[in-house]
Amino acid sequence: MEKILDIMFEKATNQIEKCSSLEELAEIKVKFLGRKGEVTEVLKKMGSLPVELKPIIGKKANIVRNKIENHIKEIEKMLEEKMLLKKLENEDIDVTIPGVKKEVGHQHPISKMIDELNQIFIGMGFMIAEGPEIETVYNNFDALNSPENHPSRSKSDTFYINDELLLRTQTSPVQIRTMKSQEPPIKIISPGRCFRFDELDATHSPMFHQIEGLVIDENITMADLKGTLDLVAKRVFGENTMTKFRPHDFPFTEPSAEVDVTCFKCGGKGCKFCSGNGWIEILGCGMVHPKVLEECGIDSEKYSGFAFGMGIDRIAMLKYEIDDIRVLFENDVRFLKQF
Ligand code: DAH
Repeated sequence: MEKILDIMFEKATNQIEKCSSLEELAEIKVKFLGRKGEVTEVLKKMGSLPVELKPIIGKKANIVRNKIENHIKEIEKMLEEKMLLKKLENEDIDVTIPGVKKEVGHQHPISKMIDELNQIFIGMGFMIAEGPEIETVYNNFDALNSPENHPSRSKSDTFYINDELLLRTQTSPVQIRTMKSQEPPIKIISPGRCFRFDELDATHSPMFHQIEGLVIDENITMADLKGTLDLVAKRVFGENTMTKFRPHDFPFTEPSAEVDVTCFKCGGKGCKFCSGNGWIEILGCGMVHPKVLEECGIDSEKYSGFAFGMGIDRIAMLKYEIDDIRVLFENDVRFLKQF
């Protein structure tokens, strides 16, 4: 029995030494020390031994068992270290190789312009309201008092989806949505995308951006409109900017006006930028038509208000001196990188 244990120990030692992986080692552990392992079997047979041999063989078997166990642990540790070293070798990092530079993008000039305008209006107490780009004909035209035969309603001017839906031609329908869902006082702006059936050229794009403004309260007058837009012009184009209100005609405002600002290039003297006349048109505005107020359930005897609509692309083009609207939407990185 003692001999068997000696042979077993030698065999185990040999096999353990030859192990080249942790898996192999685990198998050997089972083979000798497992529940049906060779050493365990010897221990199990102890019962049938003569009494005087039991302590001798038992002691020996336990020593062999412990030795094998310790040896396995030793080799296990060594193999683990070896594997870690190999892994580290494979992951070797050469700190002298130049890194890959990640390009960091930035906002599109139109988004920048929208943010800038939003900040100016928020500073003046306006809230931002948003509306969908697919609108009802009712919100885009009917509720805005647009006459049945208004040229902008024609199929050659507007992208219709069906008889009731269209791609909004202006941000003005957001006025209707806001007045129908909120009680005065109302003070909102609404930036967003608009669509018109225009041929693409240097100054026209079938997709463009507007920012709409609407203020409704008791005792709102044309003086509030003028004061507000004059301040906006100064904030956007510079403190020395002056504004000029020219009478105009919009179905949803009465009276209506178009607003020009003094050319921020020449200060109003006249230059190539303002086609020599010193003024640049920037928006349409007016006092909200009583019919529009009533259509939205607002008492036009008690409340009045003003509204305005600005072309954002046009303002961005003026501000950044871009002379072709198409470059804004072609996504040429060489162009966009300049902002
Ligand atoms: N919606 C007009 C347009 O697209 C711009 C406009 C003019 C908006 C007057 C207004 C306004 O709110 O009062 O040309």
